[in-house]
Amino acid sequence: MPSGAPAVSPTGAAADAATDAAGAQSGTGLGSIDAGGGRVSVSEKAMINARADVNQLLPLKYGWAWEKYLAGCNNHWMPTEVSMQADIALWKRPADPTGTGLTEAERTMLKRNLGFFATAESLVANNIVLAVYRQLTNPECRQYLLRQAFEEAVHTHTFQYICTSLGLDEGELFNMYREVPSITAKDAWALQYTQHLEDPDFRTGTPEADQAFLRDLIAFYVVFEGMWFYTGFAQILSLGRRNKMVGIAEQYQYILRDESIHLNFGIDVINQIKIENPHLWSSEFQAEVRQMLADACELEIAYGRDTMPTGMLGLNAEQCERYMHFITNRRCVQIGLAPLFPDVDNPFPWMSEMMDLKKEKNFFETRVIEYQTGSGLQW
Ligand SMILES: [Fe+2]
Ligand SMILES: [Fe+2]
Repeated sequence: MPSGAPAVSPTGAAADAATDAAGAQSGTGLGSIDAGGGRVSVSEKAMINARADVNQLLPLKYGWAWEKYLAGCNNHWMPTEVSMQADIALWKRPADPTGTGLTEAERTMLKRNLGFFATAESLVANNIVLAVYRQLTNPECRQYLLRQAFEEAVHTHTFQYICTSLGLDEGELFNMYREVPSITAKDAWALQYTQHLEDPDFRTGTPEADQAFLRDLIAFYVVFEGMWFYTGFAQILSLGRRNKMVGIAEQYQYILRDESIHLNFGIDVINQIKIENPHLWSSEFQAEVRQMLADACELEIAYGRDTMPTGMLGLNAEQCERYMHFITNRRCVQIGLAPLFPDVDNPFPWMSEMMDLKKEKNFFETRVIEYQTGSGLQW
């Protein structure tokens, strides 16, 4: 805790002064107005521990954050624009020898996939709103976070819509993160990095606290959204490629498009904090982050086996393990670390096409409302 922050709850004028000091120090933007202060210059703006007023968007410092805000707005969609009729018919049809219905393996995978995402979107949203937003002291990054928070709400809405449309057991779906051990293990791993950030006394400003914040960003942006969502995307889009659960597959494509921007925003934030605070990115810390990604990769591989114990047409747990090695290597490189696994190729090259929606000529023809498409995706 920084030296001006109140240790106990003060009252009256002392409380106001302490709150002002804490507000200014934490960069919340809710401290008292510095009426006589100088105007904000770009050089005063910083990702963390900034002294510049966080209520002033302009002058912009980080064009990449603003560009991602605009790209997110251009990608606007709602789950209810996607018809679920074909999915409902297929879900209700019993499995048959001709393979036109869903197999038991596909049903197990689908339910555990939905069960992971149904609460994962809320965990990510809560981390943004209750941990990340407060610590990032830059208004254009906060502008993007506000957009991202809404997109996470749209994603949670998607799982509500799927659950209701298919008539799934909502208690089963939304409790999987507490009742399916491979999902619990992932969520519990991520929560250990955000739990102490929700402490109202947590502030960046020391190397230890700044590194704690970086760990949170890595756990949620690089691991949660950047690694753990990708097995799930591959599973559902693999079904969609075989013309099964096409409504859900279309919704997952929209989510994937959003998430690829979330991921790239997180990577830019992490790398910008590293540039501005090189002392944080010590060799010890880099080794720790590599271990974080290795552990997260193992958790995802275990989840892949749990969702696909027997495998299915075009997809099995071994391929998902290779894919997770490929994705983990990619994330390492994106934050400036050496790859963890030697010589891994992408077992799902078709995922690249799924992500570049501009190649999907007919993709938007199913939409009720046309929105401008975003820029090319980097994943
Ligand atoms: Fe999301
Ligand atoms: Fe996200």
